[in-house]
Amino acid sequence: MDEKKLIAELIAGTDENIDAGAVCQALETPPDRKMGDLAFPCFKLAKTLRKAPPAIAAGIMEKLGETELPPVVSKVDIAGGYLNFFFDRGAVSEKVVKAICESGDGYGRSDEGNGKTVLVEFSSPNIAKPFHIGHLVSTALGHSLARIYDHLGYRTVRINHIGDWGTQFGKLITAYKLWGDRETIMKDPINESLKIYVRFHAEAENHPELEDEARKNFRLLEEGDPEITGLWKMFVDASLAEFNRMYELLGVNFDSFAGESFYTDKMPEVVDILREKGLLEESDGAQVVRFDDESMPPCIILKSDGTTIYATRDIAAAIYRKRTYDFFKNIYVVGTPQTLHFRQVFGTLKKMGFECADDCVHVGFGYVRFPDKAMSTRHGDVVLLEDVLNEAVAKTKEIILESSTSKNVDDVDRVAEKVGTGAVIYSFLKNSRERDIIFTWKDILDFEGESGPYVQYAYARGRSVLAKASEAGIDYENADPRLLTGDEEYALVNILAGFQDAVRDAAYRYEPSVVTRYVTDLAQQFNKFYNTCAIMKADGAVRAARLRLTACACECIRKALYLIGVDVVEKM
Ligand code: ARG
Repeated sequence: MDEKKLIAELIAGTDENIDAGAVCQALETPPDRKMGDLAFPCFKLAKTLRKAPPAIAAGIMEKLGETELPPVVSKVDIAGGYLNFFFDRGAVSEKVVKAICESGDGYGRSDEGNGKTVLVEFSSPNIAKPFHIGHLVSTALGHSLARIYDHLGYRTVRINHIGDWGTQFGKLITAYKLWGDRETIMKDPINESLKIYVRFHAEAENHPELEDEARKNFRLLEEGDPEITGLWKMFVDASLAEFNRMYELLGVNFDSFAGESFYTDKMPEVVDILREKGLLEESDGAQVVRFDDESMPPCIILKSDGTTIYATRDIAAAIYRKRTYDFFKNIYVVGTPQTLHFRQVFGTLKKMGFECADDCVHVGFGYVRFPDKAMSTRHGDVVLLEDVLNEAVAKTKEIILESSTSKNVDDVDRVAEKVGTGAVIYSFLKNSRERDIIFTWKDILDFEGESGPYVQYAYARGRSVLAKASEAGIDYENADPRLLTGDEEYALVNILAGFQDAVRDAAYRYEPSVVTRYVTDLAQQFNKFYNTCAIMKADGAVRAARLRLTACACECIRKALYLIGVDVVEKM
């Protein structure tokens, strides 16, 4: 908020020992607007000025009395050691409303990221394995983070680091050659692959020679054997087609699908550099990198049979990304169980002399827990993404059909799809990401609680008033926002003003939940305004101003929901 800077400079102007930057940091928004719009706790200056807070407040107040206050400041008063600044509400409302209307789609945008590239790696499911709920959380978080960085002017690159390499492919191919057939696999690629993979493990218990066969097949794959590579490609393509169906449903897209296999030919260089720098040590036949202070276990680079592993591919990937994109930040959205893995990878990079290790960030997240019994038992322990989304959509449809307003909804299926998937995404991005997510239908689809549908409903409500106004031929686009001075109107204006701060805060903390919190507060305040202030029934100029404010609120809700990957609907 620019007013903060203004007030900070005003205060700093009264005494050369006061630093404007420090004041800006210390300025607070009082819990109750009746106490002012911004408050400055004078005790923050007690040390530098060697005076008691009330005396400091009085001193500043006296000096302010001698100067002309900027037009937006209507009053200053003292309460204990606090200086309280009151703004001219009409002036603030005018500024905020105009900023939203004039910026079109770009409200809250900034150019602070211009010229910088942020890589967001997210989703990253494994070929021939189910896309489980953790991958969905990663998808929701990464999709949102990328949009947030876009909004702040960064060039973003969305990367899906597909798990398409590793010894498990030796097993899968061995199983396929023994018991698989192409047609069955193609019909239901992930489940059918999983079936033969599970069978491999069961049979290998009594026939250990199967393991040798699997190792041989993986080696052949690493050597580029045409037949084995062809089979591998069949599995990759079939799984990707399934994943893409889900990405489409969620509106998610990627710029790169360079998965683990992409780095196979880039690993010898990693091993060479490590060897050259004398960083590789032998440990039980494997080659590892140790960390001097033993702050963490060694990072395994080459297994005893000479094959490379997950970590090696990640090291190669980071180097490749630096060279290809010259990233400002290289973000990995992966569950917290992999925290140690990323510390080892970044630590190894650093030892190799890649300073960009400091710009690599692991954005971790917690587990999803399902207290609803039915949910967690259907497929054993893995909860499948498609089940969750399908159920969300079906349940939403029921709720909409039962509601009194459902007759107004033109396309119930499409609305249920947007509200249902939106509800799931919202629930994943609602709390700080490292906390576990407790998934219950009751909370997720609670149209009155803190939920996706609640926020989407506030938007639809606002849009329906605007539609009525347009039908009645009311012009509100040129309404006078200076009339928006009532408590609920002004509270709403203030939340609208905080949009960019919320986006920025979310970006710097890698926390989309900041935007979720923001849009929830916004929807709640919009509903308060809607319930307290008559809109259509108000008189001419006031009615128009309230309609214009409604349009601004809808625009910000839409944009904030977009940033967390949730679509709006006009009616629900
Ligand atoms: N495919 C992995 C999994 O499902 C996640 C990959 C994470 N990204 C990475 N660069 N290691 O667990």
